[in-house]
Amino acid sequence: MPIFDAETFEFISRNTEQTRRLGARLGAHLQAGDVIALVGDLGSGKTVFAQGLGAGWGVTDPLLSPTFVLIRRHTRPGNRVHLYHIDLYRLETPAAIASLGLEDLLGQDQAICIVEWADRAPELFPPEHLWVTLHPLDEQRRSLVFRASGTRHRALLETFRKEVLGR
Ligand SMILES: Nc1ncnc2c1ncn2[C@@H]1O[C@H](COP(=O)(O)OP(=O)(O)OP(=O)(O)O)[C@@H](O)[C@H]1O
Ligand SMILES: [Mg+2]
Repeated sequence: MPIFDAETFEFISRNTEQTRRLGARLGAHLQAGDVIALVGDLGSGKTVFAQGLGAGWGVTDPLLSPTFVLIRRHTRPGNRVHLYHIDLYRLETPAAIASLGLEDLLGQDQAICIVEWADRAPELFPPEHLWVTLHPLDEQRRSLVFRASGTRHRALLETFRKEVLGR
């Protein structure tokens, strides 16, 4: 598990469950305004990780694979913040992506946003975000590289990194 620098952290997941648990650990620290970008090929584990994020944050209804629905909104009991699970896979043109109005949602102070296929529209992301790149190493193993941008997301990554590494 090499640590590249203060903004970057790599973790190798051994299986689906570990990726889900890793997501849950990060999800427990999510706050309104946080933006998590998930990037990686089909089947790399973006949705598995997103489901962990949602579970860790405490959604009432589980996150699904949002392939046909572009944006799903989740809540947790006693909380006015919404967690948005967004999938840009089907949006192939800049016009289609613009029609979503994502720039009004990303970083908004009552919203947590998790965006699969974030690399379809990197220009929409505010300076404050956590960019997560997933690479399959073989059938079961995945590399997850976390890169934080902005003060808040650097702090989030630092908290998460300490928890995962136990120091
Ligand atoms: N270490 C691992 N982490 C995550 N998923 C894994 C791992 N090993 C195997 N898998 C499997 O890989 C698949 C990942 O699927 P998932 O839907 O999360 O991918 P995705 O990146 O969201 O794909 P898509 O781009 O189609 O939305 C699942 O079938 C999962 O069980
Ligand atoms: Mg997916």
